[in-house]
Amino acid sequence: MLLGVNIDHVATLRNARGEFEPSVLEAAKVCVNAGVHGITAHLREDRRHIVDYDVFSLRHDIKCRLNLEMAATYEMKKIALELMPDACCIVPEKREEVTTEGGLDVYSQKDKIKEFVKPLIDAGIKVSLFIDPEREQVSAASDTGVEYIELHTGAYSRAFGSKREEAEFFKLRQAASLANLLGLKVNAGHGLNYKNVHRMHELDSIEELNIGHSIISRAIFVGLDSAVKEMMNLIYKN
Ligand code: PXP
Repeated sequence: MLLGVNIDHVATLRNARGEFEPSVLEAAKVCVNAGVHGITAHLREDRRHIVDYDVFSLRHDIKCRLNLEMAATYEMKKIALELMPDACCIVPEKREEVTTEGGLDVYSQKDKIKEFVKPLIDAGIKVSLFIDPEREQVSAASDTGVEYIELHTGAYSRAFGSKREEAEFFKLRQAASLANLLGLKVNAGHGLNYKNVHRMHELDSIEELNIGHSIISRAIFVGLDSAVKEMMNLIYKN
């Protein structure tokens, strides 16, 4: 399994003061020097953390895989085709939410999603759909032409250590197996932290984990380089 660090909350902190620190670019460089596989940034419609300048400077100055998270809107497609990230993860977006609360409903808008992702795929961008670990969402995703899905691990992460953990983990296991069967490559992320990430090793062929909040939070206490390396030790050990 590989690690992609979601850098959004460095921008959250920067924007709290409305100035330039901490620098998203410098943070990304620390992650890359620590050995991560990729940098993930979510350009939200309301630009609450990452802004356009961040993704273009990341693309220009960072020599590592850039994964752009974005909603399926005309504006974002235009930016993605100009930016040409290595990968794009299509996520649902609601203005009021604190973070991406649920997966994209591919099942009920399969044709729309298929049409949306085609120009991105044709341009050579690896597209993934961020979905809940549900059979119908995985099957629908495989009909859209994407190469990847990213399984939403939020419910598992919230349930970790409680009676619901096994049930939520079982959903991830089933979804990952089905995706593999259908020829989809599988990433996962959301809510993963130093305590709950180890169970990702039990899933079928997860290619990459995208982790943000727990790493940036840990960085406050131990520094970003150590926070990233601690997570890499947990992820890369098998
Ligand atoms: N993957 C996706 C698609 C996300 O939307 C997010 C949150 O922005 C993450 C991964 C990372 O989640 P977290 O910050 O909880 O690690």
